Amino acid sequence: MPFAVLGAAYTVPMNSPLNIGVIGLGVMGQRMLERLNAHPRLKATLVWDADGAALHRTLQTHPGLQAATGAAPLIASSGLHGLYIATPPAAHMAFSEAAFDAGLAVLCEKPLTVDFEAARRCIARIEREGQRAAVNFSLASSPGLAAAWQAFGMQGEASVGALQAVQIELRFAAWPRPWQAAAGDWLSQRAEGGFVREVLSHFIFVLQRVLGPAEVEHSHVGYPTDGRSAETALQARLRVGGIEVQIDGRVDSVLPMADHNRMLWRGSEGELELRDWFGLRRRKTGQDWSDVGDAATHRATGQADQLEQWVALIEGRSHGLPGYGEALAVQQTIEVLLAGREGR
Ligand SMILES: NC(=O)c1ccc[n+]([C@@H]2O[C@H](COP(=O)([O-])OP(=O)(O)OC[C@H]3O[C@@H](n4cnc5c(N)ncnc54)[C@H](O)[C@@H]3O)[C@@H](O)[C@H]2O)c1
Repeated sequence: MPFAVLGAAYTVPMNSPLNIGVIGLGVMGQRMLERLNAHPRLKATLVWDADGAALHRTLQTHPGLQAATGAAPLIASSGLHGLYIATPPAAHMAFSEAAFDAGLAVLCEKPLTVDFEAARRCIARIEREGQRAAVNFSLASSPGLAAAWQAFGMQGEASVGALQAVQIELRFAAWPRPWQAAAGDWLSQRAEGGFVREVLSHFIFVLQRVLGPAEVEHSHVGYPTDGRSAETALQARLRVGGIEVQIDGRVDSVLPMADHNRMLWRGSEGELELRDWFGLRRRKTGQDWSDVGDAATHRATGQADQLEQWVALIEGRSHGLPGYGEALAVQQTIEVLLAGREGR
């Protein structure tokens, strides 16, 4: 049975394939292509990358895909239902706007942008026209976020008591991380890249989704002296409502842990810990930690759920993916952190 899609000029038969155009075929684009390959409805059909070699490699790995002749022709081609944008942030807003012109639903990679004015215009348009747009924060569909929301969100169950403080700890033996070695130079440069935008933004998203807007009270950023390379350290203090949030992030080759992250929620009667993305454990004060489920299972179910939310986005149904407004609020906090702020 066909159904109308919010603000769009076409209908999609229920359970039929949803054709996705993909722009940006680097590290993240490849990962998403693999995930789409395994999905029963979301089908990558048309792809484009400004780098001909990336396009060529992608077609060799996925012979069922078609190459577009450019980003604009891809977006304008008939038969697409959605656009997935996996380029570095500079191009995100322009591609989003073009996709809305073409009536496509958009899933865009984080960080949303470093151009706040363009983002505000884009968000105003999304609200005015009912455009379908979301941003890929991988923790949005994670059991860790659900647990933090359940414990400390608006109607928290208080399983570990009232929230007292939050700590976020990030450690990298190298930046970019080894699995991102093939990514472009942008990732290691301060204009668009760095671990604060790339990794901390996921945890600021979780923090702000559960507790609301954060205020940066103090931020000290360590940069290499070359004037171009991304940050290698961040120590910061934020406040959300009355709650203090401490952030400690470092890139250091002598670190014993190659790539580690931890978000600790300290309650009056115990603690909740999100660890290495999808790991989740809990303890009551004075007791030992106990794992809540298994991290690999959490990752698999989180990713599967995210694709179902993407289907809902395209079909114009309600979904839990972060919108552009929520992603901009994350990015605003991130950019204040990166600008540095003297403590009060
Ligand atoms: N959600 C996540 O967990 C996650 C993980 C990694 C990266 N990301 C995000 O995904 C995006 C891409 O990151 P990546 O690691 O794949 O980077 P990458 O450098 O490996 O790939 C980016 C690709 O985009 C292409 N590109 C750049 N500008 C373009 C343009 N204007 N038109 C067409 N193609 C263009 C490049 O040629 C390159 O192939 C970034 O925003 C990054 O922050 C998200």
